[in-house]
Amino acid sequence: MSVGAALALLGACSPWTSPQAGRNLYMQNCASCHGEDGRGGAQMPDLTAITARAGGTYPQRRVLDKLDGYARGEIVYEGVEMPNFGDLLTGRLTRVETDRGLSRLLPEPIIALDAYLQTIQR
Ligand code: HEC
Repeated sequence: MSVGAALALLGACSPWTSPQAGRNLYMQNCASCHGEDGRGGAQMPDLTAITARAGGTYPQRRVLDKLDGYARGEIVYEGVEMPNFGDLLTGRLTRVETDRGLSRLLPEPIIALDAYLQTIQR
């Protein structure tokens, strides 16, 4: 493997953006509402069914917007709004490829949470 390829691989699996890092962040910040297993509860969306609710394709841009705070005020369920984590989920910025062949510069905790959420879709 070339040095370039090895570095690219390393970037893709940074310990700070891995699903495992996302899982840790999830347990600290999200499980209290969405449940340890992500299945939600009364008024709290089931985060293992994001793909199913979106019609079969994981809506990555929407999830990133939600975590980033861009989607402030755009609620999935009437009545309850998720707190804005935009200020909490800060960190080193990393470029991530998003669904439509575009890329976006985002704080690593957001990338990690998104990576984790993708692994728990049913
Ligand atoms: C205080 C409770 C609470 C906490 C803590 C919380 N959420 Fe939420 N979350 C909600 C509620 C309520 C909704 C639905 C209303 C809305 O969209 O704002 C929601 C919606 C979402 C959605 C949109 C689901 C969809 O189908 O599009 C995602 C993704 C999400 N949360 C992820 C997270 C993550 C990741 C964390 C931790 C960083 C987190 N939430 C922390 C209450 C919470």
